[in-house]
Amino acid sequence: MSGLRFLLNSTLLMIVSFSAIAQEDMAALEAAGKELYFAQVSCWVCHGDNGEGRVGPTLHGGPTPIEIQEQLDSNPQMGIIVSELDPDVEDLIALSVFIGTLGGKTFSSETVSEWRTEVTALLDSRAAENVYAVSPRDQQILDIRSFDTVLADWTRKAKTGSLRGEYEVQVLNEYELGEVVFTPEPNSLYFYENTGTGGSHAPDRNMRTRGTAVVVGDASSFEVIASGEMPENLRGQVHTTAVSPDGKYVYMIGPSGTREGWNGSPLRTPATLLKVDAFTLQPVKQLSIGGRLHHAQIFQDKYILMDTFITDPDGLNVFLYDPETDEIVGGVNTRDLGGSNYTAYSDNEFIYILMQPGADGGALTNGTLLAAGEYTALRPYWVAKLDPVTWEVLDEYPYRGYRGDWVTIDAASEFMYVPSAGSSNVTKINLETGEIAWSKASGTGPYGSNLTADESHLWVANKGEGTGHIGRTITVMDAESGTPLETLFSGYAVDHVLLSPNGNEMWATSNGEGRIYVFDAHTYEQLKVIDMPGYGQPHGLVWVYYDEDGVGSVVRDQGGFHGGINPSDGRPLVIQ
Ligand code: HEC
Repeated sequence: MSGLRFLLNSTLLMIVSFSAIAQEDMAALEAAGKELYFAQVSCWVCHGDNGEGRVGPTLHGGPTPIEIQEQLDSNPQMGIIVSELDPDVEDLIALSVFIGTLGGKTFSSETVSEWRTEVTALLDSRAAENVYAVSPRDQQILDIRSFDTVLADWTRKAKTGSLRGEYEVQVLNEYELGEVVFTPEPNSLYFYENTGTGGSHAPDRNMRTRGTAVVVGDASSFEVIASGEMPENLRGQVHTTAVSPDGKYVYMIGPSGTREGWNGSPLRTPATLLKVDAFTLQPVKQLSIGGRLHHAQIFQDKYILMDTFITDPDGLNVFLYDPETDEIVGGVNTRDLGGSNYTAYSDNEFIYILMQPGADGGALTNGTLLAAGEYTALRPYWVAKLDPVTWEVLDEYPYRGYRGDWVTIDAASEFMYVPSAGSSNVTKINLETGEIAWSKASGTGPYGSNLTADESHLWVANKGEGTGHIGRTITVMDAESGTPLETLFSGYAVDHVLLSPNGNEMWATSNGEGRIYVFDAHTYEQLKVIDMPGYGQPHGLVWVYYDEDGVGSVVRDQGGFHGGINPSDGRPLVIQ
């Protein structure tokens, strides 16, 4: 076929033209031009299907390639064409030929050849102007700037095989059970909140507490019921709220360990763990768990998944803790994962650990240095998927952005969402394939995120984490596309945002103000602001439900829903 066409064309050439000008294939140009004109984002949108004009003027005058190029250079409304279509010389010619037909114009082969000479000369002269110096360092940046190279170069960071380690929990102190200050009612829902020292942006700075406390409140009326301040010698740097699955004990970070050689910043120093009675709100035990607890959440209604900021030399970074026995059933040291952990999440089957490149100290401040422009590029961050049965790392998910600090997993364990503080974006990742569905900008320094009950929207707390900023907003994104839909005004430095067990409210804990903001998850209306006693900084949030028989169970914590409740798969908690 092509041989025949060639023969025909060359015969035509010989008959029609003896000049040196090559014969243009006008039909092919017209077809190519038509395709370009009707591309998804192209001329037709603004100039109409027949070039009759719409937002843009009529093109029936038959613009030349140079005239089109001039518009692309000077007309800001056509900027989208430059970014989406980026037409080259042949494209411009094809467009002119096709647009000409819309206005009833035909161009000769000679005209088209002249256009080619002119427009090539124009673009060539332009290219010469655009040559800028590229230093060897610039070239290195150019070579690595695309995320594609991260995927192409990815080599497993974790060791293979079982990474299971052990740590023997030590009971350092036991305390007398104090006076009961909270008695739950049957068929009632409560919230527990561990609070630290008074928030830096508390509404009344003189009222700020210096203590740490376990606070309990009524989750239906949004009222604080009781608060138990820790004894002064047991104060620590609070970072999470965890409650045993039966609702009987609250776990809280205690004071720093006294081990020799640990005298850095508080976060860099291992700390003890306090086991607090959920009704006296006073500690019953002080335990050594081998590190400074960061986050904790219930796993399979049985264990508590814990992760640490820093460990003792023989400690574990991510482990499962048995609240029945106060023992660690197994865990990993992130040295074996090929980086340092920030925190861990789970879908109740696997453990997903947010991994940072390099040693923990540097990784924690990387995002800050990047946000300040002091660093220009970072090594990639990733999520490691750990199997808590075999203790093997099954997958590694490099994601777009830096210093991810939360993982929200949908009810079907299909996708995870990772807000990244250091790059102020959120990435949605397919858990089976590791493919990135989207990655979109959030507000500054996003921290926690949560899906609405129908999983159509993702709420992202713009804490200002790792950017040195004090965020005060929540971004609501379309979960399917990542498109931001709303920016809600909330408290200073909200780090966790959690969907309530009934599926109707989003609770946002404001570290800065020492308060909890409760929003209607459907209307975005602010329903209530709950002041913590002494504006103590809230960290994490746990809901405990007492059934008709007065039996308690955790139904929600910062990791997910528990105790048979999940509004995202049709099991919201409904209190009659
Ligand atoms: C997003 C809208 C938009 C798209 C898409 C768009 N244009 Fe335009 N175009 C305009 C507007 C608006 C003007 C008028 C600008 C002005 O008045 O300064 C214009 C002007 C022009 C002109 C000058 C017409 C004249 O008579 O002054 C040409 C030629 C042109 N466009 C060609 C194209 C071609 C070819 C494409 C597709 C490759 C395209 N445009 C896509 C909006 C668009």
